[in-house]
Amino acid sequence: MTGAQGAAKGRFITLEGGEGAGKSTQIARLRTFLEERGHKVLTTREPGGAPGAEMVRKLLVEGPAERWDGITEALLHFAARREHLRSTVWPALERGDWVVSDRFADSTVAYQGYGHGIDRKLLADLYAIAVGDFRPDLTLILDIPIEVGLSRAAARRGNETRYESLPREFHERVHQGFHEIAIADPRRCMTIDATGSIDQTAAAIAAAVVARLGA
Ligand SMILES: Nc1ncnc2c1ncn2[C@@H]1O[C@H](COP(=O)(O)OP(=O)(O)OP(=O)(O)O)[C@@H](O)[C@H]1O
Ligand SMILES: [Mg+2]
Repeated sequence: MTGAQGAAKGRFITLEGGEGAGKSTQIARLRTFLEERGHKVLTTREPGGAPGAEMVRKLLVEGPAERWDGITEALLHFAARREHLRSTVWPALERGDWVVSDRFADSTVAYQGYGHGIDRKLLADLYAIAVGDFRPDLTLILDIPIEVGLSRAAARRGNETRYESLPREFHERVHQGFHEIAIADPRRCMTIDATGSIDQTAAAIAAAVVARLGA
């Protein structure tokens, strides 16, 4: 029913972390690294990554921070996520591509769960409904102090600033959330120190992918 495929040939890698941690920068680097090793790579992002999901993204990332409550946000994220998986991720994995996503479900747990206080059991139930048993093969959590991330993000500020405008305590809870997610699921997750240069972080990510997936 969900389209989850035990027979997937490709690999699904997700990059997670707070604002300005370097996810978008590192996705481009990881793509090049994997292509050099002979893989066909699809890079994508959440919320979004499929036409219908990008429409939902606009609802989520634009407008004032208090536009939605946490449960509505979670429902919108999982609606977009299901569409992203069904239209983009699962077909690519079936073809044997390596799919690298800029954010995935851990961001919902960190932002709506830890950040906004939405019951994590409810988020797990939504995951089961929208995604089923499917999980990333590897999740890289880019770790950086909150201030560094926010100042990096502010330097390239666009119109997608909903979370950046929230108070410091919110970002602290999100940061703690990612930390706890990594500890709770160490086989899937790996925390990457993202405080160094772009090259240093890219090297750490490449080493993690080789160690965990054989790349
Ligand atoms: N290691 C680094 N050192 C210094 N600046 C960096 C580093 N990595 C990325 N940047 C810069 O910081 C800014 C934010 O990086 P990027 O957009 O990749 O982060 P992000 O995690 O995708 O952020 P967001 O969650 O807001 O999408 C960019 O201007 C980028 O060029
Ligand atoms: Mg980004």
